[in-house]
Amino acid sequence: MAHVGYGNKVRKAVFPVVGMGSRFLPATKASPKEMVAVVDKPLIQYAVEEAIDAGITEMIFITGRTNRSIEDHFDKAYEPELYGKTDRLAMAHNIVPKGISCTYIRQTETLGLGHAVATASHLIGNEPFAVILTDDLTCSKKGALRQMVDIYEQNNSAVIAVQKIDGVAISANSAISGVKQRDRMYQLDSIVENPAYADAPSDLGVTGRYIFTPTIFAHLAALQPSARGEYQLTDAIRALLAEEQVLAFEYEGIRYDCGSKLGLLKANIELGLRHHEIGDELRTYLKNELLANL
Ligand code: UTP
Repeated sequence: MAHVGYGNKVRKAVFPVVGMGSRFLPATKASPKEMVAVVDKPLIQYAVEEAIDAGITEMIFITGRTNRSIEDHFDKAYEPELYGKTDRLAMAHNIVPKGISCTYIRQTETLGLGHAVATASHLIGNEPFAVILTDDLTCSKKGALRQMVDIYEQNNSAVIAVQKIDGVAISANSAISGVKQRDRMYQLDSIVENPAYADAPSDLGVTGRYIFTPTIFAHLAALQPSARGEYQLTDAIRALLAEEQVLAFEYEGIRYDCGSKLGLLKANIELGLRHHEIGDELRTYLKNELLANL
């Protein structure tokens, strides 16, 4: 399904980072959960690196009350005497490479993910864009968003990321059903927010990566609040289905649900095991000390 009026290059990504982070309180009382570290980098940095790898050059952060540290993180560090001594410190000095811009907009009320994405409409204009939820940390040979951008460019239609989710955990996500187009790709026909396990249309749950055409903004603007008073992105996607094809894509790779304590710990262990500095020592510790004594 081809669209006219805008190009098919995905250059912009929206990072909604206003959530309460209630599952990580008190760690998230004064600083956002996106700044929680996995091994040695905050979640938000993994997400931005994934976007850069996918060819995105404009990062748009939807921020809230406790997000100052995110701006500081991506700002240049002005203590040159501390930086440049090692590769790692040099990297900390310049976290955002040349040619990448970061813009911050305030979502003044936490009115839901749909409302957060709509806040960016004037910065997106008439072009496709990605939405990245940093809770979902992905780990794959070819970046998850890169895989989705390729699908977008081939099909010119919205793409949402899905992964198989076992058992009752599906209720924590939106679940979809669709017609299989090819390996890992479905034409979406329904999407349900937080279904009861018995009502889930499939075991495919939406994970935090989306590519939208600008058509989504009209549906976001028309949203009615949910029973919890939130403007839900899922509702706008359901409305979009009546107008446009939406693809669900099961990207190749692992997803860590870092919005949950267990997911965050798993990510720390698995990425720690792969880390060039500490991986071998961590493996030895887990095998010979920790597991031997459990
Ligand atoms: P969630 O509602 O799933 O999570 O938001 P949360 O509020 O961040 O965390 P918990 O559940 O209280 O632990 C999903 C995503 O939408 C963003 C959040 O930052 C998160 O990335 N969001 C949500 C906003 O940016 N604005 C909102 O009004 C609501």
